[in-house]
Amino acid sequence: MLVHLNGAILPADQARVSPFDRGFLFGDGIYEGLRCGVVGGRRRVIGLSRHVRRMGSGLATAGIAFDPATLGPATEALLDANGLREAFIYWQVTRGAPDLSTHAPRSRVPPPGLRPTVFGYCAPLPALAGLAEPALKSCATRPDRRWELGHVKSISLLGNVMEAIDAAERGADEAILVRDHARRRLVTEGTYTNVVIATARSAPAGHLPPPFDRYEVATPSLASAPLLAGVTREILLEVEPNLTEGAIDAADLDRAAEIILVGTTTMVTSVSRLDGRPIGDGRPGPVAGHLFRRLMDAIRTGADEPACDTPARRGTSSARVG
Ligand SMILES: Cc1ncc(COP(=O)(O)O)c(C=O)c1O
Repeated sequence: MLVHLNGAILPADQARVSPFDRGFLFGDGIYEGLRCGVVGGRRRVIGLSRHVRRMGSGLATAGIAFDPATLGPATEALLDANGLREAFIYWQVTRGAPDLSTHAPRSRVPPPGLRPTVFGYCAPLPALAGLAEPALKSCATRPDRRWELGHVKSISLLGNVMEAIDAAERGADEAILVRDHARRRLVTEGTYTNVVIATARSAPAGHLPPPFDRYEVATPSLASAPLLAGVTREILLEVEPNLTEGAIDAADLDRAAEIILVGTTTMVTSVSRLDGRPIGDGRPGPVAGHLFRRLMDAIRTGADEPACDTPARRGTSSARVG
């Protein structure tokens, strides 16, 4: 595997990072996970400008000087070097390593002028064209005990990792996190996915198209509790106006006809069991199927990129990949 480290492409076993890198010592960094696939015969990174924007916002919040607009070309170079067309691509930008002759390695306050450490790798994924329907996953509800800046894609994922391990020990594929917030028990997200729930309406809403005539379909809003503005979630909200956002109570999971996970690697996945209890009939439900097709259509038609917001038009600033 060839990886990117600070502008160079090299074999993974030759990539060296200082043990004093603040990413390693403090989890002081921001990351992104992207997907590329072949669309209309051409390899393309899905929702690239949304990833660039989210990374820029996380870097700005953390005060790490790095220009995420260079992710696009750096991703293409990494994919070319590895000969991949359908892949997951990971980028991590840490605040860097201090000069130990002048600075204490573990000073919480970083010395000025640190050079960020930039690392990227990619790994093959199944071809987009071969994805025919939502996959199935089992989930366990777990307490969301993470920090409050859930919108920042921090590399400090201990909270996510601990709950994912707990879920795995319960025989589940993913955790659905529930947070006590504003005197409510609210659904936030998965450990690497956003959550959508479909609840059967008490009476059909004839003015809405199927499956929304029979189901209310909602995802936790960013304002309801700390959670990540997933790129997949954002695309679905744009292309499917009947998908709504709001605060979702943990109790809503008990009455949900469908629970759905959305994310870059999972795309749209149907939850078949929650805490050991079957959801639906063990097959992807109509809402999961609909959202899956919506997402694939968005990718096919280019709606994964927001109108008038292509990566090429985005601004540039100080540091660059490479
Ligand atoms: C905590 C969390 N929520 C949601 C998501 C889904 O985001 P995206 O659709 O951008 O992959 C991720 C992705 O890694 C995540 O880590």
